[in-house]
Amino acid sequence: MSIQGPKTAALFDRAFASLVNGVSSGWRYWGRDETIVLTRGKGGHVWDADGKRYIDFHMGFGPIILGHGDEHVTQAVAKAVANGTTFAFTQEQEVTAAETVKRAVPWVEKLRFTNTGTEATMHAVRLARGFTGRDTVVKFEGTYHGAHDYVMYSTPGQDVATLGSPYRPVPVAMSSGMPNVIGGLVRTLSFNDFTAVERLFADEGKRIAALMVEPMLGNAMGIEPEPGFLERLRSLCDEHGAVLIFDEVKTGFRIAVGGAAETYGVTPDISTFAKAMGNGLPVAAVAGRGEVLQGWARGGIVQAGTYSGNSVSAAAAQATIERLLTGEPMAQVERVGNALMEGAAKILAARGVSSSVHGRPAMFGFFFGEEPPSDYRGSTQHDSELYEKLVMGMIRRGVLPSPDAHEPWFLAAAHSDEDVATTLQIFEEALDEALN
Ligand SMILES: Cc1ncc(COP(=O)(O)O)c(C=O)c1O
Repeated sequence: MSIQGPKTAALFDRAFASLVNGVSSGWRYWGRDETIVLTRGKGGHVWDADGKRYIDFHMGFGPIILGHGDEHVTQAVAKAVANGTTFAFTQEQEVTAAETVKRAVPWVEKLRFTNTGTEATMHAVRLARGFTGRDTVVKFEGTYHGAHDYVMYSTPGQDVATLGSPYRPVPVAMSSGMPNVIGGLVRTLSFNDFTAVERLFADEGKRIAALMVEPMLGNAMGIEPEPGFLERLRSLCDEHGAVLIFDEVKTGFRIAVGGAAETYGVTPDISTFAKAMGNGLPVAAVAGRGEVLQGWARGGIVQAGTYSGNSVSAAAAQATIERLLTGEPMAQVERVGNALMEGAAKILAARGVSSSVHGRPAMFGFFFGEEPPSDYRGSTQHDSELYEKLVMGMIRRGVLPSPDAHEPWFLAAAHSDEDVATTLQIFEEALDEALN
């Protein structure tokens, strides 16, 4: 049964005629009759072309932390647009936004803005290579760091059978068109596998430019680092002269105002921020220790971008972060997120569904299975058929998480107690339907 009403279906026909598969980003295509087409969003809700309202937990794959159409951000953006948007010179708004980022993430000494998470991680990798004079980059299975070729290996969705032995994993390219030679510069590991990381550094430490990690697996159910794991990554990078990069595109300005570094108490050399930083406007940053970031100032390492630091994105970042710094939005996200995590866990337990909930109230995922996973391989033991049935039942009833359990549920400060109560009721109904 299609999830598109008649007007939505007609709009998607038009989309299909002009946009490849009717979308501007591959993962948005869920099938000819199953792709959602939205016309507006407000607070914690979005509406499709038929006027059907959804309680949104997709939240644009994570950027919306305050709520759709947040007044503070909207006003700041409108003011910036009226004053001209892109000058390709340093702009006052950009300077203030950079100062605001540093207030929110106090360990950051220097930064540069980019426009997307992909651009931020791409520049972070090049900066680390230029800084160390080395080529090898280490990443973890089940993390996604953007759509460039540098690290798009062993990403979520990859069949575990192709990933090689956990003892010596094989980096698997996510896409055709990625030159084979790049794979030779990438090493993949299982998250939370202390021994494997130590072995790799012992064998190849002198060649490792950077270790890039999503400190919490934001593309694999919100799996968290085991105690001491991020600390061990930090100490190994220090011992071997490698750059530690936290990809905080999903966790930054979301799991805490100061992101994962604040949450877990470990400071990387570089963090990449995007998504929640601008509440839905395209703004990102490469930020971190002055000594490393100044690599761009010393010459020889290129970073550039026509739209980077444009006043509209900078205004969105500043307004979003100023709101977050009041503490109110995070307290609300924490409250509603906790209620949802706990309520759903109770419903699952009452029906005898073996499951675990991972992550933090602002961003969490469900694993349906016996053994709570600590890495991507474990997460694939999940009952995806049951989860997808549950989520499609919820979507039909007007609640919108992703049917792929690897993609977490995202909460915003605009989600209300009523949204949580309705969601739990629908969760229960849809689960009963899926189990029968
Ligand atoms: C952890 C992480 N890094 C980088 C990216 C890429 O960001 P963007 O889609 O803005 O290019 C994503 C996107 O989901 C992500 O989750």
